[in-house]
Amino acid sequence: MKMDEISKQYRDFIEEYLKKWFAQFHDEPQRVLYEAMEYSLLGGGKRIRAILALEFCRLCCGDWQKVAPFAAAIEMIHAYSLIHDDLPAMDNDDYRRGKLTNHKVYGEGMAILAGDALLSDAFSCAAAAELPGKDVTFAIQILAGNIGSLGMVGGQVLDILSEERVLTEQEVLDIQTRKTGALINASCALGVIAGGGTEKQLQAACGFAGALGLAFQIRDDMLDVIGTQEEMGKGVGTDATKNTFVRLYGLEKCEELVQKYTNVAIEQLQVFDDTEYLISLANSLTARKV
Ligand code: IPE
Ligand code: IPE
Ligand code: MG
Ligand code: MG
Ligand code: MG
Repeated sequence: MKMDEISKQYRDFIEEYLKKWFAQFHDEPQRVLYEAMEYSLLGGGKRIRAILALEFCRLCCGDWQKVAPFAAAIEMIHAYSLIHDDLPAMDNDDYRRGKLTNHKVYGEGMAILAGDALLSDAFSCAAAAELPGKDVTFAIQILAGNIGSLGMVGGQVLDILSEERVLTEQEVLDIQTRKTGALINASCALGVIAGGGTEKQLQAACGFAGALGLAFQIRDDMLDVIGTQEEMGKGVGTDATKNTFVRLYGLEKCEELVQKYTNVAIEQLQVFDDTEYLISLANSLTARKV
């Protein structure tokens, strides 16, 4: 199968899984909450994090569907992070994934609650994984650690504070590693855990994720400058006041950095066999327009 076909297979699978997960709530009286959650969760997105979890699971054991509850939980957490990131009190964005942002449609109160519920329900979904109990506990520990105060939320805090002064390269690296890298790290790690991978494979997956996460956010910051709203489905130029690599080094150097970190990521994959898809996926992200 070609790279795009494999990505589509993974994407269709996780979207179907998420739809089925939400179908169980359709008769609840707080229907509007589920509408708001599904509006952001099922309304597009590249599903890169789910794809990474599924692919690392496949690389470890062949049976990639084993990681489905974790991959779904990660996409729920990602959707929550985007809903909150777009709020007026944060990035104040009006468009996401080609549609109005959640708070523009449902109001700020409901958008905050939809994010809260996606985050909480993600843990119910992950905890229900049919895997050995110790693996589920370990996976949840890694997931919570990566998205909490030391991980994604910590990074978002540093991102907000960064608007007040110019940061050093190390400080910008730290923000990107936490706000974007941490969830990508959890995605790759949970794939290995669900696939019963070795400690060495887990280390390699985390090394890959660390470098890929940096490349991914630098490209995101470049697209905020060179991308179009039409292609990206979200506002551009909205992070102009933020401390990004683009602000530190300019576009040309950033292009080199994206390539450099992608190469570093790919080098980590030597402990796995059959990495052709993952290498093409990583390389395709360097030139992404979305
Ligand atoms: C956007 O993530 C937010 C960042 C962390 C850069 P994605 O670029 O993965 O967004 P979707 O899921 O494809 O919409
Ligand atoms: C978002 O980073 C990171 C998280 C949501 C944790 P950005 O603010 O750069 O993402 P976009 O550009 O709005 O998608
Ligand atoms: Mg932001
Ligand atoms: Mg934003
Ligand atoms: Mg951005």
